[in-house]
Amino acid sequence: MFPVDYLDRKPLGNTGESISAIGIGTYGIRDEAKAIEALKHAVEVGLDLIDTAEMYGSGRAEELVGMVVRDMGRSRVFIVTKLYPHRFRNPEDSIRALKASLKRLGVNCVDLVLIHWPEEATPIERQVRSLEALVDSGLTRYMGVSNFTTEQLKKALISTTKHDIVVNQVKYSVVDRGVEGELLPFCIANKVTLMAYTPLERGRVADMRPLKELAFKYSKTPIQIALNFLIARPYVVAIPKTERRERVEEFKGALGWRLSYPDIQILERLNQSPQ
Ligand SMILES: NC(=O)c1ccc[n+]([C@@H]2O[C@H](COP(=O)([O-])OP(=O)(O)OC[C@H]3O[C@@H](n4cnc5c(N)ncnc54)[C@H](OP(=O)(O)O)[C@@H]3O)[C@@H](O)[C@H]2O)c1
Repeated sequence: MFPVDYLDRKPLGNTGESISAIGIGTYGIRDEAKAIEALKHAVEVGLDLIDTAEMYGSGRAEELVGMVVRDMGRSRVFIVTKLYPHRFRNPEDSIRALKASLKRLGVNCVDLVLIHWPEEATPIERQVRSLEALVDSGLTRYMGVSNFTTEQLKKALISTTKHDIVVNQVKYSVVDRGVEGELLPFCIANKVTLMAYTPLERGRVADMRPLKELAFKYSKTPIQIALNFLIARPYVVAIPKTERRERVEEFKGALGWRLSYPDIQILERLNQSPQ
């Protein structure tokens, strides 16, 4: 059982900084002009965290985020990017890869860089050394991980020597709640922000009957119910993707209120697979 969290700006790890409870993802952009417009609108309305990766569109997503940042102003956007796991075999490779990302983004420094997923072949301690080198070199303000299990995250946390792991980005949605058993309680206890990816199940949550019923009750949409469920958890932020301005508005409507605890419990009883 998790207490209901009412914060619309969530703590970023143990940094004392806060980030929007809802940011925007950039995987699989189809219409670039519309995506840029939607991302700019998101920043305008306060959904000012953008998640990208060197992998997305083979670097093109970072270039598009760069266009958004150039138009909106660097200080208005919290930029998260992710590097391939093999970059973290040694500090030199990670620095070279992040410099290439920064060039595509058109910035001197990102706010947060993540290991996209753990590489089995490289000891976690060595991956963390390479992450720390990125903060030391001033190319990122903060560092974190993605797709790390609780065990892997534990190892990463004890491997740090001077900078904290502030985020673990993992899959989490109202119908895929595997993180709730062990990982989320561990993140809360250790002040690591859990960044929920694929929070809309690629749009499928919009058609689920229990979400539609709650949407009717709250005069909200099923998408807003699905996002509200996630951000009602302490230390959780969600990064839904859209390239449509009107859907950014819809995401924004998930902020500023919370499902009641009994209604959260109704959603907790849903099947684990999308209906
Ligand atoms: N770390 C990782 O390994 C990892 C893995 C996957 C994803 N991610 C990150 O997380 C972000 C989000 O995850 P995701 O893109 O996999 O899935 P998602 O956010 O669950 O779903 C995005 C899809 O849902 C559609 N959608 C958005 N709003 C909708 C609405 N109101 N009604 C119906 N459909 C809607 C979008 O289409 P439109 O664009 O047309 O609106 C898009 O096709 C990614 O973009 C990426 O930044 C990270």
